[in-house]
Amino acid sequence: MSNTEKIRNIVLIGFMGTGKSTVGKKLAKALSWSFIDIDVYIENKENTTIPDLFREKGEPYFRDVESNAIQQVLRQSKQVVSMGGGAVLRKDNCKTMLDNGLVIALTATPEAIIQRVKGNSDRPLLQGNLEERVYTMMEQRQGAYEFAHVTIDTFDRSPEEIAVQIQRMLQ
Ligand code: S3P
Repeated sequence: MSNTEKIRNIVLIGFMGTGKSTVGKKLAKALSWSFIDIDVYIENKENTTIPDLFREKGEPYFRDVESNAIQQVLRQSKQVVSMGGGAVLRKDNCKTMLDNGLVIALTATPEAIIQRVKGNSDRPLLQGNLEERVYTMMEQRQGAYEFAHVTIDTFDRSPEEIAVQIQRMLQ
């Protein structure tokens, strides 16, 4: 039995801009598994965008919807699931992830994250002074992704290379 047959799902976690969705799509394609981006799942379910949801209903409402989405999605198997960066803020969510898949954390330096998310307006928590927001939030979330089974530093590697690394790890 290969490792992929033993794993229910692959769950990608990490700060905004660490490449979870890009890596996840490539990995799902290579494994012939489904790809689910929790933010996109929420947008479809709530029939709105993440920035509008934050603006109209507020972050606590978003976090409740996010927790429900995680519960629902992880009932299924053979999926690569990309979590929103803040999905790890609730311990129950972390437990659900650990119980239902191999949890992989992607990490990057604040500088790399700032470069990747620059000019992108779809992240309500990064509005304002981008540098200041990224440094402050990374500090606040320090250690929050450490519960993962595996941590991969994306450093100077492309999403393709990270996806291949994960695939090799699963063989
Ligand atoms: C958030 C990350 C976003 C999205 C929302 C909140 C966070 O997802 O869920 O804007 O709290 O870190 P990405 O990590 O995919 O950008």
